[in-house]
Amino acid sequence: MTSLVSKLLFLLFLCYSMICLSSCIPSEELDRFTSEEEVLGLFQLWQKEQGREYENLEGEAKRFEIFKENLKYIRETNAKRKSPFDHRLGLNKFADLSYEEFSKTLLPELAVITHDNITKQSEELNDESCDAPPSIDWRRKGAVTKVKYQGDCGSCWAFAATGAMEGLNAIVTGRHSVSLSDQQLVDCVQTAKGCDGGWPYRAFEWVAENGIVKEADYLYTATNGTCKPTKEKQIAVTLTGYKNVTWFSEKALTCATVQQPISVVLEAKDEFRFYEGGIFEGKNCTGTIRINHAVTIVGYDSIEDRDYWIVRNSWGRDWGLDGYMYIKRNSSNSLGFGVCGIAAFGAYPTKEKQVVKLDYASI
Ligand SMILES: *[C@@H]1O[C@H](CO)[C@@H](O)[C@H](O)[C@H]1NC(C)=O
Ligand SMILES: *[C@@H]1O[C@H](CO)[C@@H](O)[C@H](O)[C@H]1NC(C)=O
Ligand SMILES: *[C@@H]1O[C@H](CO)[C@@H](O)[C@H](O)[C@H]1NC(C)=O
Ligand SMILES: *[C@@H]1O[C@H](CO)[C@@H](O)[C@H](O)[C@H]1NC(C)=O
Ligand SMILES: *[C@@H]1O[C@H](CO)[C@@H](O)[C@H](O)[C@H]1NC(C)=O
Repeated sequence: MTSLVSKLLFLLFLCYSMICLSSCIPSEELDRFTSEEEVLGLFQLWQKEQGREYENLEGEAKRFEIFKENLKYIRETNAKRKSPFDHRLGLNKFADLSYEEFSKTLLPELAVITHDNITKQSEELNDESCDAPPSIDWRRKGAVTKVKYQGDCGSCWAFAATGAMEGLNAIVTGRHSVSLSDQQLVDCVQTAKGCDGGWPYRAFEWVAENGIVKEADYLYTATNGTCKPTKEKQIAVTLTGYKNVTWFSEKALTCATVQQPISVVLEAKDEFRFYEGGIFEGKNCTGTIRINHAVTIVGYDSIEDRDYWIVRNSWGRDWGLDGYMYIKRNSSNSLGFGVCGIAAFGAYPTKEKQVVKLDYASI
């Protein structure tokens, strides 16, 4: 009996160690590490988990200092949680970078918005009312590809755009989503700045003119490359154009999400970087919003009267909730920004439904 139990326990342990390749240090456990030696032990465990090695002891010591700062921030933030649904932070692959280092490559500033910017578009979009179901999840409808990783390149805008285009294409064709080339956008969209940031709508404009190929036909390199010409027959998706969601309206964003996945831009800070689960409320995004990141909204839902967006990020599957994040929706924030500006500037690609025209003359 005992040996059976221990065998089972061993199996469980094996499963556990295989599942938690990404993060095996649960955030609830972090408070156990208090003394300098224990924190050093934690750092070494983290390094092992991440396969992280440093060139020399000096470099390692510097990274350890940063790791300690981040750990402190993560613990302090987690200590403020009041409900199991409140978001929690964890030691992810970014834990040995300072916020300055991290934001320099991954979060190029795109725009700054203040109260003065809260104006509606001049055109009347009439997109603020619709029959919105209580929840929608485009992942369950086969309209979302696997989560990707942008690497050390501020190309989030390209991923936010491909996410929306992959979704639209799946919906319009009625087929499973196909991964589209982020690198083609990074290299070719002249109205964006490659690894130095850009707006997702610029990608839609470009694709409406040129079309876009599959990811497999134009691989991601996480660097600024030169735009490679593609053959006509390689083009996987074409667009009619794009539309902006009514600015500063979570209602309009909800109605848009009912139709298809949407590209949005927002401000990502330290809380966002270390997100591990729960509903993110962006308490640190107040007053002026500095837009520095772009993501794709792939649905929304509620739990215990708390509404949230289902957000697909491009920081790998080992970030957040298997690469996703829940962001508070219907935020009471009266300015209409939504949490961290998520409802400020949404946009989505458009494409005519493929109508099969019957040619009666030939029947
Ligand atoms: C917001 O308003 C400020 C000041 O009027 C302006 O400089 C800035 O470009 C505006 N931002 C956006 C995103 O329109
Ligand atoms: C929140 O979103 C739901 C759609 O899921 C909508 O019916 C409801 O009116 C919204 N609440 C507010 C306060 O906007
Ligand atoms: C990448 O290319 C853009 C132009 O497309 C340029 O503005 C930017 O400085 C480049 N970044 C790097 C790191 O070379
Ligand atoms: C969409 O919004 C952007 C600002 O985010 C603006 O520059 C652009 O002109 C708008 N496009 C359309 C078609 O309204
Ligand atoms: C977040 O806000 C709290 C207090 O509101 C502050 O102590 C903390 O430094 C802020 N953190 C960041 C990363 O802005």
